[in-house]
Order: sequence, then C-alpha cells, then structure tokens
Amino acid sequence: LETAVARCTRCALAERRQHTVFGVGARDARWMIVGEAPGAQEDRRGEPFVGRAGTLLDAMLAALGTRRDAVFITNIVKCRPPGNRDPTSEEADACRDYLLAQIAHVDPGLILALGRVAAQQLLGVKTPVGKLRGRLHQGPGARPVVVTYHPAYLLRTPAAKRQAWADLQLAQSCVAVCAP
Ligand code: URA
Ligand code: SF4
Repeated sequence: LETAVARCTRCALAERRQHTVFGVGARDARWMIVGEAPGAQEDRRGEPFVGRAGTLLDAMLAALGTRRDAVFITNIVKCRPPGNRDPTSEEADACRDYLLAQIAHVDPGLILALGRVAAQQLLGVKTPVGKLRGRLHQGPGARPVVVTYHPAYLLRTPAAKRQAWADLQLAQSCVAVCAP
C-alpha cells in the first residue's frame, strides 16, 4: 500500500509534491490519528506532523501516556496541497481508498480526527468541529471516531486546549471500553 501511494497520480496533488506522506506508527496501533494534509515540512520529510503542530501533537500524546510510535498517524490526503490550502473534496475522494485500507489494516480501536477537514471527510458531514467534538461518532467500518481541534488551531487558540483535553480523555476512555 505504501508503494502504491508513493507512485500515485490519482489527483493533481501528485504534480507538485516532493514526497508522499503515507503515515507512521505502529501497524497494530489501537489509536489511529488522522490529520488533514501534509504541510511544507511534512512534504520535505515524507512524515506527518513534523512541524510545530506536530510538536504539540507529540505533547498531547505524551499527556495521554502514549507516543508517536505506539499510535498510527496519517492524513486525509497523502500529498501536500500547494500553499497549504485545504484539500478539495475531489482530492479527498481520490485519496480515500488509501485511508480506508490503512484503517482496515491497522484495525484501530479508535480514530481521532484532528480538525474540520479530517472530521468532515471521515464522517461524511459538513458540521463544524465545535458541534462534532465532545461525543462519539461512527466512522468507516462502524469504528468509533472522536473529533477534536487540529493542533495548528490550538496553537492559535490556546483557550480551546481545555476542550481538546476533554476530547482526548473521551477518546482514551473509549479505547479502554470499546477495544479492551
Ligand atoms: N497538519 C496536518 O493536518 N497534517 C500534517 O501531517 C501536518 C500538519
Ligand atoms: Fe494520490 Fe492521494 Fe497523492 Fe492524490 S493526494 S496523488 S490521491 S496519494
């Protein structure tokens, strides 16, 4: 699957990427964390969440008593949208099979959707994050999904960290109960 992504030209994002960003982590992880799209640093390194938002994500994982290599981290699209614009729904559609295959292979007990694009694309809704966070949803394969704010948003809006922490605790209790 990773090789197929590295060669993929299903959408126009293939044209300007330096690297595809498949995802990293444990292939039998209980948590799958889904962001939006690679940014400039991720495109250079071929790894998700290696910029400032990634440092905050690492801190969020540490607060949960876990680490990047114990979870699986990926994005809705595997190639960087130019200028860090949001991926279009056509691009997300073109890339969806890879994400669904990753979810099927990793078979996580919980999916944590970071931010609007991840949440709306995973759940197939247009509801704002503020209305999706704080409760459990059913995602692909009827898996439990918790939605929270994107770490890049939390960097701009530190007051939302309280709510994000509540979301992470909800996710943690679900991992304990839903996937013992
Ligand atoms: N933001 C994302 O949504 N994904 C990344 O990989 C990096 C930043
Ligand atoms: Fe292929 Fe996804 Fe990259 Fe588009 S974003 S080229 S569908 S891997």
